[in-house]
Amino acid sequence: MRIQIAPSLLAADFTHLAREVARAEAAGADMLHCDVMDGVYVPNISFGFPVIRQIAKITSLPLDVHMMTSCPGRYIDVLAEIGASIVTVHSDAVEPDELGHTLSKIREAGMTPALALRPPCPAEEILPYADILGMVLVMTVEPGFGGQKFMADMMPKVREVRQILDRVNPTCAIEVDGGIGEATVAEAAEAGANVFVVGTASFRAPDMKEAVSSIREKAEIAFRHGRQIE
Ligand code: DX5
Ligand code: ZN
Repeated sequence: MRIQIAPSLLAADFTHLAREVARAEAAGADMLHCDVMDGVYVPNISFGFPVIRQIAKITSLPLDVHMMTSCPGRYIDVLAEIGASIVTVHSDAVEPDELGHTLSKIREAGMTPALALRPPCPAEEILPYADILGMVLVMTVEPGFGGQKFMADMMPKVREVRQILDRVNPTCAIEVDGGIGEATVAEAAEAGANVFVVGTASFRAPDMKEAVSSIREKAEIAFRHGRQIE
């Protein structure tokens, strides 16, 4: 299972977005994490589709779009059109009877469907959809803001998600998002996460390339270690 680092553009310098995207590429990012917030699902508003469309034009990195909006199903067509690769929707942002349909629609539109669990949402919420998911996002902060403290108490949930996926969908990725950096990545990787959203600790590091390499190395060692323990 490949370790992937996804710098979060929320921590980038928005006055020089093209330069920031180039900096992430040069640092060895595997994809770019784009946080879309609507001020309803989370108490903050970030950026939306016109910005992502422009970013897609200047990079070949896959765009990992984290939808922190209500009714994310409304935006699947536009996300496909502007060049999103992964579309993550929150389990509690969609009516339970529509969630399976929303995830299938994301796949039918040619993108990877991912399901996000905010801190109070248990691992079992993925069960009905585990076989169609390309990724599960376990939030390690309450969504809405960058620069928050990593919640180590989410690690049992990462382990549970990995156990479920090992049974039904072993190639499915697990992403963690919130407070990930040099000091926290190993814990998350050892628990079974393999995709790491890194905002503050990448874009705001003194040397982004050094930070991304070091975070990746720590993740690789800890992920392997975690798999051997089980
Ligand atoms: C928070 C966002 C994150 C955020 C992470 O709701 O989903 O992607 O940018 O930022 P850091 O890495 O600074 O915690
Ligand atoms: Zn995010």
